[in-house]
Amino acid sequence: MPRLLLAPMEGLVDAVMRDVLTQAASYDWCVTEFVRISNTVLPARVFHRVAPELRNASRTEAGVPVRVQLLGSDPQRMGATADVVARLQPAGVDLNFGCPAPLVNQHGGGSILLDTPDCLLQITRAVAQALAGRVPLTAKMRLGVRDKERAVEAAQALAEGGAELLVVHARTRDEAYRPPAHWPWIARIAEAVKIPVVANGEVWTVADYQRCVAESGCTDVMLGRGAVADPFLAQRIREAQEGIEHPPCTSDWQILLPLLGHYWRGVEAKLEPHHRPGRIKQWLNLLRRNFPEGETLHQQIRPLRQADDVTAVLKSVGAL
Ligand SMILES: Cc1cc2nc3c(=O)[nH]c(=O)nc-3n(C[C@H](O)[C@H](O)[C@H](O)COP(=O)(O)O)c2cc1C
Repeated sequence: MPRLLLAPMEGLVDAVMRDVLTQAASYDWCVTEFVRISNTVLPARVFHRVAPELRNASRTEAGVPVRVQLLGSDPQRMGATADVVARLQPAGVDLNFGCPAPLVNQHGGGSILLDTPDCLLQITRAVAQALAGRVPLTAKMRLGVRDKERAVEAAQALAEGGAELLVVHARTRDEAYRPPAHWPWIARIAEAVKIPVVANGEVWTVADYQRCVAESGCTDVMLGRGAVADPFLAQRIREAQEGIEHPPCTSDWQILLPLLGHYWRGVEAKLEPHHRPGRIKQWLNLLRRNFPEGETLHQQIRPLRQADDVTAVLKSVGAL
């Protein structure tokens, strides 16, 4: 069976969403949103806030392991922070070398580091040394900043630094999230490093997964927006391995409804009322790609500004 991972997505997949998505389908592991390390070594409470699963043996309620993602450019501080994180016994530590956000890149973090493979090596090595084998170390990269010229060199630096597995989001920073993802580049990288490589980018359907495998040579895939748009996608990919075809359907939506309700309860517990509607609108905006019922519910909820009004609609459709 292929390994299927749930992608880190800051502002979209937090602990509440991880809880729901890992109830809908199983993953080999999830990765938290990035935690940026700048001027100080962050205390344990920051990691408990981003990854409340750390208090549950670093697993979601459904039992899926959660790895903590760090982003930063200073090897010494990254190493010191990794030591703080290792004491919390996460299922793993992942390093972010893919974030395209201008603010993050201006501070020398995220995808901008792909231009300097030596920095990638220093950071990864410092973190690997700090973890000292206590928890697995992985890294996530894009293909470059402006072009793909140094993609292989960057991947080799991460492997040499001590990453045990590499997730490759098959786009440059400048390509942002625009399709296509360049899956054949993942094959080039996988040939050039000895560690396992996981493909990532633009897998929205089982057919996309199959094309991604054919073009990247990787059966292990990290699912991002596709898993939020179709919470059963990981399950469908596994079923397809057994020859079972099961496209999104109304009975899936019926299973999803109580999960939407559960999500809303989690959002209520975490966010101030005025921030809540935006969260569920964001999810419905992706769900409507696959479920006509999601389109209808999105239209009902989109104009609402009050959390109580959202609750009333969710009750009326049987989600609560
Ligand atoms: C809203 C959003 C937030 C993201 N946040 C992170 C992040 O915190 N860390 C990270 O490594 N990648 C982040 N990504 C990138 C995703 O993990 C993934 O690489 C990208 O979306 C491509 O996969 P997909 O086409 O399956 O969505 C983010 C992507 C999106 C859309």
